Amino acid sequence: MMPLSSERTPVPPDAMKIPLSAPDITQAEIDAVTAVLRTPHLSLGPELGAFEAELAAYHQVRNAIAVSSGTAGLHLSLLVLGIGPGDEVIIPSFAFIAVANAVLQVGATPVFADIDPVTLNLDPAAVEAAVTLRTRALLVVHTFGVPANMAALQSIAHRYGLKIVEDACEAIGAVVGDGITRRPVGSFGDLAVLGFYPNKQMTTGEGGAVLANSPPHAARLRSLRNQGRVAGAGWLDHGEPGFNYRLSELACALGRAQFARIEEMLACRQAAAERYNDMLSKMNGLELPPTNLPNLRISWFVYVVRLPEKMNRDRIQAALAARGIATGRYFAPIHLQLAWRSRRSGAVPLPVTESIAHRTLALPFFNRITSHQQQEVCAALFNLVAEQG
Ligand SMILES: Cc1ncc(COP(=O)(O)O)c(C=O)c1O
Repeated sequence: MMPLSSERTPVPPDAMKIPLSAPDITQAEIDAVTAVLRTPHLSLGPELGAFEAELAAYHQVRNAIAVSSGTAGLHLSLLVLGIGPGDEVIIPSFAFIAVANAVLQVGATPVFADIDPVTLNLDPAAVEAAVTLRTRALLVVHTFGVPANMAALQSIAHRYGLKIVEDACEAIGAVVGDGITRRPVGSFGDLAVLGFYPNKQMTTGEGGAVLANSPPHAARLRSLRNQGRVAGAGWLDHGEPGFNYRLSELACALGRAQFARIEEMLACRQAAAERYNDMLSKMNGLELPPTNLPNLRISWFVYVVRLPEKMNRDRIQAALAARGIATGRYFAPIHLQLAWRSRRSGAVPLPVTESIAHRTLALPFFNRITSHQQQEVCAALFNLVAEQG
């Protein structure tokens, strides 16, 4: 396992004794990637088609279009839905910055709506209050792998004639409902986006995919990711301006080997989350994430606790880092980021986001984290919280 840095900065892999996240690479992944290297097909070959078919089947949608990142997937999704200048897209501020950047990239305006304090996902009432005559779409993030309230959000979208893009970059394998009502996250929106950065439940190194039921959407996504090339025509026949958002054969082979183990990996993460909840349940003032929500299966992306209000998160993070324990500030609200302060439209209050985001702390969390490592994290956290308390 190659440990990742505490956040997405290039820190030497051995900088932290217990990393924040770590990809789970076995011999199967190494063999799959090596096998591709022995073929002449390093891009646009059979691994791509097979990976896309597997992703589509799992998510119960007609098409999956693999792309070079989750951000690229969000960008293309908004483009394909015809969203552009003059349009507003409702997004959470408690999210990764790519969500807002993608909206800006198509020339539209991100409008922030507040979140539900339990699930940390868009609060449907706040979304409805943010709808204006210019609103064209909801960009619904399944934060930390917890499914958003799709029934309520779909009803709002229906009432106001809005598109839905699901951002399932953090949520592959999350499920809503049970039995015949069971639906995977990613099957609800007009389009949905997956992300495979190495801190995710499964990785392709860099990469993502767009899930699309509509064949015209799928065809346009395939063309746009490949420089706007016309399907079935020559390499130099371009129907419209496009991008190089292709995903290599090596990445697709890695993704297929990972995806073949997705249930096993999600089970490891669920078990690790439950262990943390057990170990931390006696720590005064610490708020823990829910491990079971009715009618939902969480796909654990990160394990995020909320510190008591009076604690100094920066000091706790620094003290943990000094002990070789990496943590993350998931998430710093987008509307408070330097790059976004001047762009904020509407100035809708975001009290829940602002009251929670400065207290969140992501603890080390990855498939193969051991009980022993988790005990070390919890003991260190316990001492620090007691010291500050
Ligand atoms: C919610 C969300 N959306 C989008 C992205 C962007 O994905 P990528 O880093 O693959 O561009 C991420 C990833 O980190 C994410 O967590």
